[in-house]
Amino acid sequence: MSEVVTAAAPLGLTAELTHRCPLHCPYCSNPLELMARESELTTGQWKSVLSQARELGVLQVHFSGGEPLARPDLPELIEHTANLGCYVNLVTSGLGLTGERLAVLIDRGLAHIQLSVQAADAERADMIAGTRAHAHKIVAAELIKRTGLPLSVNVVLHRANHDQLEGIIALAERMGADRLELANTQYYGWALKNRDALMPTPEQLAAAAPVVRAAIDRLKGTMQVIYVVADYYEDYPKPCMYGWGARQLTIAPDGTVLPCPAASAIETLTLDNATKRPLTEIWYGSESFNAYRGEEWMSDTCRSCDRRSVDYGGCRCQAFLLTGDGASTDPVCKKSPDRGLVDLILARPVGSPDFAMRGPKGRQR
Ligand code: SF4
Ligand code: FES
Repeated sequence: MSEVVTAAAPLGLTAELTHRCPLHCPYCSNPLELMARESELTTGQWKSVLSQARELGVLQVHFSGGEPLARPDLPELIEHTANLGCYVNLVTSGLGLTGERLAVLIDRGLAHIQLSVQAADAERADMIAGTRAHAHKIVAAELIKRTGLPLSVNVVLHRANHDQLEGIIALAERMGADRLELANTQYYGWALKNRDALMPTPEQLAAAAPVVRAAIDRLKGTMQVIYVVADYYEDYPKPCMYGWGARQLTIAPDGTVLPCPAASAIETLTLDNATKRPLTEIWYGSESFNAYRGEEWMSDTCRSCDRRSVDYGGCRCQAFLLTGDGASTDPVCKKSPDRGLVDLILARPVGSPDFAMRGPKGRQR
């Protein structure tokens, strides 16, 4: 008999307002085919989607992208969302953030900012961002701190910035961050394309461990430090999204509703659009959200494993991208028959440091 999976209501929505971005980070998880401005939802469509999300149960909305500040209607969307009773977070590069704009966003209900940082110094950071960005981020952090808004600094770690880890932590302290997320790159979208150039070495990861441990201890009570491990090097996969269709959903700039930000990579999924089908119906009843809920879809390897309630069989996008089957055991898992694929990737000689920079043309650097 088929397992009946009853989903709980989602807690969080990531609203990818646009794929437009002034930065060109090679580790971006956006798809290689970036959506053009013309395909973006209108202000009215976003408001309708946000209202539906609240009705569905969503309590936290993360405005993200691309760069959400590229949308002139951001204040209006924040106001609408805050008035619905949601906690509003902005995920931004900081480029385009002025004191005046920030004051408006806070006035409309913005509660928290996550600011991305590429490296410890301008030369390296601008090389990774593919544009002069670092100095703007320092100013953005000052502006944010002056308002008293909680600030998280997000740093994606990879081979080209791991050696600056201590400097990055010091920079986040100088910025007055309340929280620092140091996340090793996860390989989707542009990051997957650039995997050979981004993959850290085992030596870098070994050197990072004591630095992170010391920072966590030293900064307890001042700045929360979170470290996301480099999962290819682990024995077991991450509990991606805390389970498929379990807690969160993402809406792409054109209204495509995704069970996780990278889910458009799973070519076998039929994705719905929020302009064509009610969000509640998509969350509870769509093929895409039900594809990997519960345990019935799992391989025997996962279904017979005690860790299945810990990691939910790992990441569905990673499983698809590495094996071509979204229901296979995440190949990061040492029990996966496909673990050899990950080991082969790790055994490759250190690749060229040249990146394909994110952008419509994917220019080389
Ligand atoms: Fe997780 Fe499946 Fe590996 Fe068990 S076999 S640890 S459930 S991925
Ligand atoms: Fe999509 Fe992990 S990134 S399920």
